[in-house]
Amino acid sequence: MHKLSYTFVIFAMLFMSSCEEQKSKENYSLSSPDEKNTVTFSLTEAGKPTYTIAHDGVVVVDTSAMGFDLKDLDALSEDFEIIKTETSTADETWQMPWGEQLEVRNHYNELIIYLQETSENKRKLNIHFKAYNDGIGFRYEFPEQENLNEFIIADENTEFNLTGDHKTWWIPGDWDIYEHLYSETNFSEIDALAKANNPDLNASYIPENAVNTPVTMKTAEGLYLSFHEADLTDYAGMTLKVNQSEHKMISELVGSERLGGKAQIKAPFNTPWRTIQIADRAGDLIESKMILNLNDPNELGDVDYFTPMKYVGIWWEMHIGKSTWDMEGTQDMNTFTVGEKGSSQHGATTANAKKYIDFASENGIKGLLVEGWNTGWDKWINTDDREGVFDFITPYPDYDFDEVMAYAKDKGVEVIMHHETSAAPLTYEKQMDAAYDFMKANGINSVKTGYVGKIIPKGEYHHGQWMVKHYQKVLDKTAKKKIAVNAHEPIKATGKRRTYPNAIAREGLRGQEFNAWASDGGNPPAHLPTVAFTRMLSGPIDFTPGVFNIKFDDYKKENRVNTTLAHQLGLYVVIYSPIQMACDLPEHYMVNDKVHPAFQFISDVGVDWQQSKVLDGEVGDFVVIARQERETNNWFIGGITDENQRDFTLDFDFLEAGKTYEAKLYKDGPEADWENNPQDYAIETLQVDRTTSLDIAMASGGGFAISLISQN
Ligand code: NOJ
Ligand code: CA
Repeated sequence: MHKLSYTFVIFAMLFMSSCEEQKSKENYSLSSPDEKNTVTFSLTEAGKPTYTIAHDGVVVVDTSAMGFDLKDLDALSEDFEIIKTETSTADETWQMPWGEQLEVRNHYNELIIYLQETSENKRKLNIHFKAYNDGIGFRYEFPEQENLNEFIIADENTEFNLTGDHKTWWIPGDWDIYEHLYSETNFSEIDALAKANNPDLNASYIPENAVNTPVTMKTAEGLYLSFHEADLTDYAGMTLKVNQSEHKMISELVGSERLGGKAQIKAPFNTPWRTIQIADRAGDLIESKMILNLNDPNELGDVDYFTPMKYVGIWWEMHIGKSTWDMEGTQDMNTFTVGEKGSSQHGATTANAKKYIDFASENGIKGLLVEGWNTGWDKWINTDDREGVFDFITPYPDYDFDEVMAYAKDKGVEVIMHHETSAAPLTYEKQMDAAYDFMKANGINSVKTGYVGKIIPKGEYHHGQWMVKHYQKVLDKTAKKKIAVNAHEPIKATGKRRTYPNAIAREGLRGQEFNAWASDGGNPPAHLPTVAFTRMLSGPIDFTPGVFNIKFDDYKKENRVNTTLAHQLGLYVVIYSPIQMACDLPEHYMVNDKVHPAFQFISDVGVDWQQSKVLDGEVGDFVVIARQERETNNWFIGGITDENQRDFTLDFDFLEAGKTYEAKLYKDGPEADWENNPQDYAIETLQVDRTTSLDIAMASGGGFAISLISQN
């Protein structure tokens, strides 16, 4: 385990300067430390706050208004004057307890604008900007004050005024789920409402033409922009409403019919940061740590109860219909569509769990997830009556919990708990203490949670303030009990793993499971080369890679994975998570009673990194990432491409001088292509050092993976 204790190495120099009582309508500019990014604040004649962002002197977000509509109160949007400004600068380096890299530099300049209304209300609002070399963040701060104490935000109206009809990679601004395919269109062609009524989504609500974040764009000049938010705490998630003709976005917070507004606030209160990552190179978006830096430092200290790991699970077999979550077999074959009955074979049996444990322990896999171990799965979905379905402590009679735990312990395998809440968070909150105590009493240190379905109570949405608070409650409770959380159907990642490093991974995207049952034929080859530059900018992803039996025709002829086998291997490096599943069935990893030769890569690949480098990539086309493992200093490289075949020249000049490595290259075979021959692969062994250059052919929908084991 990473023995790196949680320490902050602060080289921070803080210079605070303030200009008291300076009432003016002039502009205030703040530049990043390298002076490439500049944000300028100004008030309009009407006293309305606005900001503009430039990169290398070129405007990238044109004058954009800021402000709020409040429920039953006057809007907080104009008549402001500046009563004070403050600037400072910071440069510190902190360590990630687990992550894409060990050390993160947090280097920024900041500007706080203190505003007050000139009208009789005299309400105060501060706008806090931070300028980084990799982008700009700003948030609203409501200071404690007499005339604005407890209130409901009816609308946040933060504009993002674009300077052109940028190419945009977007998913709809769904209030309940992020599990949509990305579309690549010009900004003016975004049509989120066309994504409503997706038959594969159990809960989905797209009220207007808005997108979810991160949303990534490329300008005609080749600059990359990504819009998101950081430190989403006690507030509603932000979608961005699209004004197609004016090339403008306006924040649209996820609402709550129960609240009759967007967010209930009590001053003092700070909103999440609104973030704009700016990059000359697509890969720099992935390397950017701005979202994390905008979150508060680690509040939990050492989280070494959690070990980054790979895991197998009784999971894919339910999704492809080999077995069921419930014991009675009455459940629909997959979670989301009504139709064929599943086979009556329960997946989570004692014997089956032991089979997975044996496979894990024999192949260098640390963890085991078991879904469907607890009672309730016969009535967990397609009903409004979902309170009290699960209790998270009662195993099905054919699953001997104690026996499985003892067997796992004996074989050195760590069991991961599964809590499907069926989107009944109030039931979960009632059960939490008992459920977490049960876990700890059995030596279980991590849990996969799930929230499939419409939220109960009605009127709340997965991404609204009420659920943001629930997800946070789970993180707080589990942190106290020393439990790590991998949330499915989560709130989006906004970098809170910096503050709560027990938030290890989450879903929040269209995962591998869609390949098992989606009615649209599954994730296209371009899916993950898009995800790497969109969803992945927000944080670790539990995508669950590793399907080797690409077409699984024995179970489902009409569904398949739309990549090659080598592409699946590349994902272990490309898609970052401190937990990585080897999701296929143990028997699919076997050839003639021996483990598949390509499984060696999954056994070897690291999950916790000293440093990560994006070697090349283009949004939606391809990406190649190299990551160096902590402690061993071995390197692993992954590459994936979309439906286009691609020849890639890999230069190893990122390696340390004087070091040689034994490289094992897992690549597409000469006949491979995702559609007709997805399982054709080849393995090559060679010696490399920093002078080596290697030509690698990626097949259509293909990819590659390399392990570099240090020889000296
Ligand atoms: C949806 C999750 O994404 C999936 O991983 C899980 O198997 C099902 N819900 C059941 O909890
Ligand atoms: Ca899901």
